[in-house]
Amino acid sequence: MRCIGCGTVHDRVGRDLRCPTCGDLVEIAYPAWKASGGRASGLIASELKALWRQRRSSRSAVDQSGVWRFREMLPALGDGHDAITLREGNTPLYEMPGCARAAGVQHLYAKHQGLNPTGSFKDTGMTVAASFARREGFRWVACASTGNTSASMAAYAARGGMRSLVLIPDGKISWSKLSQALDYGAVTCQIRTDFDGCMRVLNEVVLRMPVYLLNSVNPYRLEGQKTAAIELLEQLDWQPPDHVIVPGGNLGNSSALGKALLEMQELGLISTLPKVSIIQAEGANPLVRTVRETGGKELVGVEAETLATAIRIGHPASWKKAVRILQATGGTVEQVSEIEIAQAKAEIGADGIGCEPASAVTLAGLKKLVTQGFVKPSQSIVLVLTGHLLKDPDFTLKFHRGDLFAGSKLEKDAGVLAGQQRAPIVLEASADAVVKTLEQADKLAEKR
Ligand code: F0G
Repeated sequence: MRCIGCGTVHDRVGRDLRCPTCGDLVEIAYPAWKASGGRASGLIASELKALWRQRRSSRSAVDQSGVWRFREMLPALGDGHDAITLREGNTPLYEMPGCARAAGVQHLYAKHQGLNPTGSFKDTGMTVAASFARREGFRWVACASTGNTSASMAAYAARGGMRSLVLIPDGKISWSKLSQALDYGAVTCQIRTDFDGCMRVLNEVVLRMPVYLLNSVNPYRLEGQKTAAIELLEQLDWQPPDHVIVPGGNLGNSSALGKALLEMQELGLISTLPKVSIIQAEGANPLVRTVRETGGKELVGVEAETLATAIRIGHPASWKKAVRILQATGGTVEQVSEIEIAQAKAEIGADGIGCEPASAVTLAGLKKLVTQGFVKPSQSIVLVLTGHLLKDPDFTLKFHRGDLFAGSKLEKDAGVLAGQQRAPIVLEASADAVVKTLEQADKLAEKR
């Protein structure tokens, strides 16, 4: 483990998972790759590609996992230690024709990480970090969460025979995410604060109790999350897209995907780097402010507020790692409004895909980057969709009923969304009524 601040390499770190020398975050480094001339586990790029492809027809659980299939690029669990796996990863890469038209580009894809076992990208990191927690002999694992991390952690803890402790901001996460943590058996505490407050409390708890921290400050989480980028490149036949666009919350995921791209370049798996750009909600935009106001040198924390509750984070832990990825890949940051998020989410839904609000910032951000000329219409772009549509049904229902912004100061601007709203229609039990509705819908579609 190498400190991202002072560069010291440690065999072990304390329970807060920070550098014992300077307190900064650590990351997992693979010095053996360089020492062996760009090989991982002694294999050159073409051998790695062939091995990973071959594992797809295997019947073993670790080969079927879309994370452990790429284990040459992951830390080794060691003999006698099994991975805790739900066959995570293996998520589809979709073409997005309607969204491409909306954004004014020709080649748009979505890597849907929401199609993981618990419905979000967190599973790819959790399989690795939970496996290491069990290897270390922990009985308890814990996280602060806006909902997805907690759902994922609770599932993997249950599968691995460990107990889990969840701290979530009271009333600020979606019911479906909360219900997952409960069903998977977590001790779930709704804390009267926001995500940043939950994180503060948990950092103290881990120092006082033998619980293993599974937030994305945990470097093993990011190693697992890296594999989404490896799988993406495999799906694109190792031809990198021009742009990868990711939502930014606590900034672990963008850091992980960027780390994977840099490492794939180091191993000769790809020869060029896509630009990784990070999009935040206007009301939860600490990275955007950090980059624009300090050139990425000092974190500008904010009091976060957005309906995209998954990314309602004002003091992201991995901001330094994310700044490094922006700089290394030549990507940019952008922020999008609540109305833009709602509109983009409906457009992703209308392509037959769907996602939760936080994921939709990617399409909303892409539209801005095209307008600014940062993304050219002929370039290839991959949006990383991080969570499943069913993660936040309240948002979707309110949107279609037209009352997502009712009573808020955005109400007067929400008229632009009318064309995308499809409120449910209550009818008498008669075929006549249904046929009439069908005819009206057909006429409306023709007009559009
Ligand atoms: N999208 C979704 C659906 C998320 O749940 C999160 C983060 C993000 C994007 C942002 O990713 O934090 O790596 O920058 N959710 C965390 C949680 C914070 O607790 O579930 P990030």
